[in-house]
Amino acid sequence: MATDGRSLRERLEEIRQRGISAIRSATDRDEVEQARVEYLGRSGLISQAMSELRDLPVEEKPETGQTGNRVKGELETTLELRLSEIEAAAAASAPTTSVDLTLPGRRSWRDGIHPVTRVIDEICEIFREIGFTVATGPEIESDWHNFTALNIPLDHPAADMHDTFYLADDRLLRTHTSPVQARVMLAHEPPIRVLAPGLCFRRDPWDASHAPAFEQIEGLAVDEGIDFIEFRSAIDFFVQRFFGAGTRTRFRPSYFPFTEPSAEVDVTCFLCDGSGCSTCKGTGWIEIMGSGMVNPAVFDAVGYDSEKYTGYAFGMGPGRIAMLRYRIPDIRLLYEGDVSFLEQFG
Ligand code: DAH
Repeated sequence: MATDGRSLRERLEEIRQRGISAIRSATDRDEVEQARVEYLGRSGLISQAMSELRDLPVEEKPETGQTGNRVKGELETTLELRLSEIEAAAAASAPTTSVDLTLPGRRSWRDGIHPVTRVIDEICEIFREIGFTVATGPEIESDWHNFTALNIPLDHPAADMHDTFYLADDRLLRTHTSPVQARVMLAHEPPIRVLAPGLCFRRDPWDASHAPAFEQIEGLAVDEGIDFIEFRSAIDFFVQRFFGAGTRTRFRPSYFPFTEPSAEVDVTCFLCDGSGCSTCKGTGWIEIMGSGMVNPAVFDAVGYDSEKYTGYAFGMGPGRIAMLRYRIPDIRLLYEGDVSFLEQFG
């Protein structure tokens, strides 16, 4: 390098500046290496400059020597930094190196509607055609709505069957959707035609045929002049639509405190067409709901005139209907959220 009459220290400063910009402008490992050889190599610019040290007057040697070492150190640090920047950029722009093309592809999730929701939606749709709307009520209920208003005294054996989870202050997890009947009647005047789907809770075991939380769908119709014939024809309309034309309906006398008279509704087995199979236990019939004419005591409880109004009510288990329809052998499958099971209902 030409000395131009400048001191060695001034020239070392210049080498420093040029070296730093050469290293910083290097765009790949080769260019960094070229800069290293040119500036830091054995016969590079710094070595050359430092070889002139011996010709300096003794008093200038220490300071110039220190400058040389500092410049060398700075260039080495800059070089390492630049190299790591270049390597990081190369790794980021080469993602293909981390993809294993031999791995099996990821299956995409096919969405679907839960079989119980599907049954509930269908029931609501069919009853909508004969004037029913949908109502909801809370899962945490008062014992008045769950039992008393429905003519079930708390010490009545029917309340035992509904052993449930009691919370503080006369609150409980509702054991059926029937309390929504009371809530709708307290909030509205007749005529009423509602369906109330929702979760219910009982102290039942968790096994193939029981779950402590399960769905019900409640129906209630109240008006002047509703009689048993209207009740039967509404149920028959639903059965024909849901289970198929030609399905027959049978009413068996039963007992529920909130209906009088009460009936259990059976339909001809939709799996064997009534000829008898394992699902209908050879009877040809499958029970699908509890039902009846609303007991006047329920009207009295909610402040309706029981001389003026009549009505019918029914309660179904859409989970049970889904199990029969889709031949689901274990109720737990409905509630475990297993994707490989649910995907079949896409
Ligand atoms: N709530 C009853 C139960 O959980 C089912 C039921 C029966 C509902 C008859 C009704 C009805 O509305 O009329 O067992």
